[in-house]
Amino acid sequence: MTPQKKRNLFVTTALPYANGPFHFGHIMEYIQADIWVRHERMCGNTVHFVCADDAHGAPIMIAAHKKGVSPQAFVAEISASRRHLLDDFHISFDNWHCTDTPENTELSQEIYRRLKAAGLIYTKDIEQFYDESKGMFLADRFIKGTCPKCGAPDQYGDSCEKCGSVYAPTELIDPRSALSGTTPVLKSSTHYFFKLSDPRTVAFLHEWTQGKGADGTGRVQPEVLAKDSEWLEGDNLSDWDISRDAPYFGIEIPDAPSKYFYVWLDAPIGYLASFKAYCARMGMDFEEELMRPDTEQIHFIGKDIIYFHTLFWPAMLHFAGKPFRVPDHVNVHGFMTVDGFKMSKSRGTGISPQDYLDLGMNAEWMRYFLAAKLNSRVEDVDLTKDDFQARVNSYLIGKYVNIASRAAGFIFKRFEGKVSDAAMNDPVLVQLREAADEIKADYETREFVRAMRRVMELADVVNEFVDREKPWELAKDPARAADLQRTASVALEGFRLLTLYLKPVLPATAARVEAFLNCGELTWQSVETPLSSANPISKYEHLMGRVDRKGQLDKLLPDRPEQTAPEAGKPGEKADKKPQKKSAPAADPNAPGGEPVAEICTIDDFTRVDLRVARVVKCEEVEGSDKLLRLELDAGEGRLRQVFSGIKAWYKPEDLTGRLVVMIANLAPRKMRFGVSEGMVLAASSALKKDEGVYLIEPFEGAEPGMKLH
Ligand code: 2FM
Ligand code: ZN
Repeated sequence: MTPQKKRNLFVTTALPYANGPFHFGHIMEYIQADIWVRHERMCGNTVHFVCADDAHGAPIMIAAHKKGVSPQAFVAEISASRRHLLDDFHISFDNWHCTDTPENTELSQEIYRRLKAAGLIYTKDIEQFYDESKGMFLADRFIKGTCPKCGAPDQYGDSCEKCGSVYAPTELIDPRSALSGTTPVLKSSTHYFFKLSDPRTVAFLHEWTQGKGADGTGRVQPEVLAKDSEWLEGDNLSDWDISRDAPYFGIEIPDAPSKYFYVWLDAPIGYLASFKAYCARMGMDFEEELMRPDTEQIHFIGKDIIYFHTLFWPAMLHFAGKPFRVPDHVNVHGFMTVDGFKMSKSRGTGISPQDYLDLGMNAEWMRYFLAAKLNSRVEDVDLTKDDFQARVNSYLIGKYVNIASRAAGFIFKRFEGKVSDAAMNDPVLVQLREAADEIKADYETREFVRAMRRVMELADVVNEFVDREKPWELAKDPARAADLQRTASVALEGFRLLTLYLKPVLPATAARVEAFLNCGELTWQSVETPLSSANPISKYEHLMGRVDRKGQLDKLLPDRPEQTAPEAGKPGEKADKKPQKKSAPAADPNAPGGEPVAEICTIDDFTRVDLRVARVVKCEEVEGSDKLLRLELDAGEGRLRQVFSGIKAWYKPEDLTGRLVVMIANLAPRKMRFGVSEGMVLAASSALKKDEGVYLIEPFEGAEPGMKLH
């Protein structure tokens, strides 16, 4: 391992509103950050990993009022009820705080004073809807009415869920208060604004968004930079209304009676409040820590709050001055979807972390599943039962955990727990150790998908070694004891290395493995410290079971009606209306899809067909054909192939561009009226009901153009 300079990392995840239980969106973010944080700790870096409850704002105030309790009591109860999930999912926060605290009040007021002194705060009178019966101004979410654009009734004050248009609440037709049902009146009030449009702020944001963190990589991901640039170019920045009128659950604005900071002003300052409370607890000096030249401030957030974190937040910090520092990185992730849908209780795609655990599902399954899906880009992570089951049972258990059970018994029972020291330089182990730098780099850059893929390839190497050496046969022949010890030792050291590589993802399993292998704490340093006969291993205890499809997954995610209904959406209709599985009535109940299974073929027959993963680089309609689409496919050959496919009825060209498909690469080229087709893309359809749909075959995430199907 190449030694590196030690880092001092202040890492946060977005502060969750204290208005309900955690959902998997929260847990996914915590897991992503936690994997990264654990990796950093394994590098020997110092990490301060903090978060807090986001307590303030009108929705929480109103929910507490409805419940007849104070907002503080409401927040405390919610916070206490969900906190255990952090431990259950092995999230290693160093501190959990709250935005409704003296630290946050003090820091928010201080930052505000500094922004005011910098000439970046001004006041302006604005007219807003006011609920006279409740005696309060109404946030956009508490105003409902008819959409001014499409006429849809019962829409919120800021945007229409039916047509998606965005508008001011004052544009709504027949507005009414969602709190009392009364018609609100327009009333004027003085509001405080942060001058985001100030030339100094704009100049700073241009520089910050395009800059690099202390580690030399971009502060934001390329797609976030593109978004920010769009906002920054062409005068798109509006000043930010940072005040709300009483009654409001929030922090008072200094020298402004009855005015409170808008929750989004004090929420990110909650990162600092949490860090400050943590420093006090640990005997560290908060200001000194922030100002240390080697400190890096890193935020993990979801794609819905980019604007707040990459524009307002760095600008606030920069113009507030020392000891505050601008973020080194804002790492943005996509949403977690289920079967391609946004998670939603009513749609049957809302899965709760608590339900997951109540079904006896292992938290590390989910950590592994998410690691196998998460990369450094702002992409959604889709959960399907098939995918989850395959990754847990076939990969995590089948490839990784099984190695230990295949080897440990021999060493423990036959060799007093002692490995063969001579076996530690076996070429298989050299190969595994050589991969360490690459896997470590993938963790560093949050390319967890790639790290998991590499780890599973290495697990294959170890399993193939065990299959070749057949320790169960060696065990039958006492004369071959040394070979047995060597084989089992290689497998166990391989297992130790794989555990090290998986430790950021599977911390609980890694701790148990460290104990049973008696190998000390696994860090990136310990790649080169193999198992030793001087430290005999203990008895192997079962590490992890398989996920049960019927008893767990099907209960967590029951099939939804549209997954079986014949009128399910046509493929490719809309991004959020993905093709759903349909079950055709089977003519032959024993045959898949009712179609008789084809004649037996040999493996040679199968391998004659060269199937490759290909990316659709371009897709367009074919003039004069009502059936065909023309695809340009990249199968990693350094050139593009033209393929015509009869899928026009089922897919729109724009839905296919960029997606992966499976292609027959060695099919004889076919001359067609519209040009030569140089392959064929694979799709599935029901033999009985062709009209029901044609479904392109898409490889699991992580596959790359050119990969061969076996
Ligand atoms: O969107 C949300 O859930 C906010 N509570 C996130 C706040 S993140 C930070 F600014 F505190
Ligand atoms: Zn509308």
